[in-house]
Amino acid sequence: MMSLFDKFQSLSDARHALIQVEPSPIGTRIDEVLSPTEGRVDGRSVILAGTNNYLGLTFDPDCIAAAHAALDREGTGTTGSRMANGSYASHTRLEEELARFFARPSAVVFSTGYVANLGLIGTLAGADDVIVLDADCHASIYDACRLTGADIIRFRHNDAGDLEKRLRRLGERTANTLIVVEGIYSMLGDQAPLREIVAVKRRHGGYLLVDEAHSLGVLGAHGRGLAEAEGVEADVDFVVGTFSKSLGAIGGFAASHHPELDMIRYASRPYIFTASPSPATIASVRTALQIVHSRGELRQRLWANAERLYHGLARLGFELGPEPGPVVATLLGSPQQGVAFWHGLLDRGVYVNLVLPPATPGGQALMRISVSAAHNTTQIDQVIAAFAALKPMLGHHEPE
Ligand SMILES: Cc1ncc(COP(=O)(O)O)c(C=O)c1O
Repeated sequence: MMSLFDKFQSLSDARHALIQVEPSPIGTRIDEVLSPTEGRVDGRSVILAGTNNYLGLTFDPDCIAAAHAALDREGTGTTGSRMANGSYASHTRLEEELARFFARPSAVVFSTGYVANLGLIGTLAGADDVIVLDADCHASIYDACRLTGADIIRFRHNDAGDLEKRLRRLGERTANTLIVVEGIYSMLGDQAPLREIVAVKRRHGGYLLVDEAHSLGVLGAHGRGLAEAEGVEADVDFVVGTFSKSLGAIGGFAASHHPELDMIRYASRPYIFTASPSPATIASVRTALQIVHSRGELRQRLWANAERLYHGLARLGFELGPEPGPVVATLLGSPQQGVAFWHGLLDRGVYVNLVLPPATPGGQALMRISVSAAHNTTQIDQVIAAFAALKPMLGHHEPE
């Protein structure tokens, strides 16, 4: 007889075969967080370069003060769902502020970005509808698709021509088709060819959803993301995003120029059947959103750091994602090499994320570095120096 746990044996065996030395690169414990860019792992001081803290706002004094004040005023948690137990005024205010930020009439706050995708996509599309998504979309988008019962069609990553081919085949069904892409993709840090995608949508119809999880606060003159940077916001029907990256907290949202977005609240199980974000979280996010708007210099610093890191690693001959950005990905070869490299980086005081196949493109291990506006140039250079010192471990490999 099979037990419920038998299926974990092969996972456990694979993990032990690959990772024999602690600490583990999977689910690493960060013992202390000292600042947006410094912490302690396994007794060592490390530069944090794997935390998606793009603007460094987790320790921003204004965000912390706003969170403290909300904690004192309204307590530690809301202890319930907005639909069943009511919204706090601050939830509604944040929705108004998000709507204003994106210059759209409607915005809905969810408990995480993952839940935002489940809550929006999973409710918008039904059994008779079609979802056409970029093959490299995040797991939350794939999971949302599963909830819908819709026809799910993938197009080749960042290939607007392939999207066009698939929409053409759908004919009149594009009227109830949802196209889903991301602003910046989380593994390789590359941007969607959004102007081309919008042109395809204009020719064939459909609704366009852009998940700006990694591009909010990062791209666009006001930090509204890739759609702003590319000047195509009017063609984007739905923006989804998270509070867990550039905004330095936790939570998610959807915004739209379709006023019907508000109706989602009455039908979306991931909105209805989960507790709302805590008052302190909402307060820090509201402040962080103002900072995204008012402190454009953070964006400039983030990009200067991203360029410095990307070009520094490129000069060393590392195989990188296609373009600089807040996520700098280094392709490393086998999973074993990836694990050894990750430990080598940690020994040199650098904490980044190791991503292993099948979550990576091309079956290679990938070192995913996330850059922050809060990194100083010395830290960026220390990361580059650690990669340089470990390069011989990978053997001779010239970039193409
Ligand atoms: C593209 C994308 N969407 C959604 C999410 C989920 O965000 P959250 O961490 O708020 O659940 C992520 C986070 O990794 C992401 O990369």
